[in-house]
Amino acid sequence: MKAFITGGAGFIGSTLADKLLKKGFSVTVYDNLSTGQPLFYEHNLSNPNYTFIEADISDKDKLNTVTQGVDMIFHFQANADVRGGMRNTGVDLEQNIIGTHNALEAARINNIKKFAFASSAAIYGEPAIFPTPENIAVIQTSLYGASKFSAEALIQAYSEYYDIQSWIYRFVSFTGPRYTHGVIFDFMRKLINNPNELEILGNGQQRKSYLDVADGVEAIFQSVMKAKDKINIFNLGNEEFLNVKELASEMLGLLNLKNTSFKFTGGERGWKGDSPLVQLDIKKIQSIGWTPTYTIRESIKRTVEFLSKNSYLLEVID
Ligand SMILES: NC(=O)c1ccc[n+]([C@@H]2O[C@H](COP(=O)([O-])OP(=O)(O)OC[C@H]3O[C@@H](n4cnc5c(N)ncnc54)[C@H](O)[C@@H]3O)[C@@H](O)[C@H]2O)c1
Repeated sequence: MKAFITGGAGFIGSTLADKLLKKGFSVTVYDNLSTGQPLFYEHNLSNPNYTFIEADISDKDKLNTVTQGVDMIFHFQANADVRGGMRNTGVDLEQNIIGTHNALEAARINNIKKFAFASSAAIYGEPAIFPTPENIAVIQTSLYGASKFSAEALIQAYSEYYDIQSWIYRFVSFTGPRYTHGVIFDFMRKLINNPNELEILGNGQQRKSYLDVADGVEAIFQSVMKAKDKINIFNLGNEEFLNVKELASEMLGLLNLKNTSFKFTGGERGWKGDSPLVQLDIKKIQSIGWTPTYTIRESIKRTVEFLSKNSYLLEVID
C-alpha cells in the first residue's frame, strides 16, 4: 500500500508516517516545512520505503505528478493555528479549503480511491450536546472550524462523484511527543519568560478534552483498516476532560515550579471562537475496537517531557 501524507513532517502527520512505515506501508511525505520539523522525519530518510518531498500544497503540477501510483492520500496539511484566522482572514480559506481541493484533485486525476482527512472538533462550534456525537447540526464560530467543515463537505462530494472512500477525523487537541502548538506550548514559552506569573487566556474554567498522538494515530490506522462505509466520519478524543487551570497546575507540578501565580485575562472563552467545553462522544470509534490508552494527565507529562528535552522548538516555531 502506497500512502501519501500531506503535512507529514508535522506533529500528527509525522507520527502517522512512522506508524504506517512500521505496518509495512511505503510512505511519501509532502510538506513545505512551514511548521514541520526535520527532527520528526530525519530518521526515516535512509528507509527505502520512505520519500520526503519539500513542496507546497498550492503547487498543483507537482502535487499531481508526485501522487501518480499512490493508493491512499492522508491529507494532514493545514494552517493548524486555530487563532490565526482572526489576524489573517484568508489563511484558512487558502491553506485549508483550497489546500484540500488541491489534494482532492490529485486524487481524482490519478484515480486514487482512498482519502483520509484531519478535521477538527472546532467544526462543532459551541454545540448544545455533550459529549458531542458526530451527527448533530452545527453552527460555526471560527474561520478555522468553518474551513475544516467546508473541506469535509468537499471530500464528501468528491467521494460521491468519483467513488473515493473517505475517512474524516474530528480531533480534539492532540498532545504527546512532537507537540509544537497549542496551550501547553504557549504555557511552556510563557513560563520560560516568566516563571513567577502565568497568564491564562479566559477565566481558566474552559474544559477541554485531549488525546495522546500515539492513541490518535492508532485510531486512524485501525479505522482505515476496518471502516467500510463510503464516507466514514469519526470523532477522535478521550472520555475525560480537564479545565485550563487544572492543566496549568499539572504543568507547574511537572516543571517543579512552586511559586507561580496565575493571571486570568477573564471571560468564558480564551478568544473569540474558543469553545468553553470540548467533549466528544467517542462511541463510534470505540465500536471498531479502539480505545485511548493514555490518560490526559499521562499525555501532558509526555508533552512536557518532550518540550523540555527539545526546548529549541519553543524558539524556532512562530
Ligand atoms: N494538533 C491538534 O490538536 C489538531 C486538532 C485538530 C485538528 N488538527 C489537524 O491535524 C492536522 C495536523 O496538525 P498538526 O497538529 O500536526 O499541525 P502541524 O502544523 O504540526 O502540521 C501541519 C504540517 O503541514 C505542513 N504545511 C502547512 N502548510 C503547508 C503547505 N501550504 N504546503 C505543504 N505543507 C504545509 C507544515 O509544515 C506541517 O508539517 C492539521 O490538518 C490540523 O488542522 C490538529
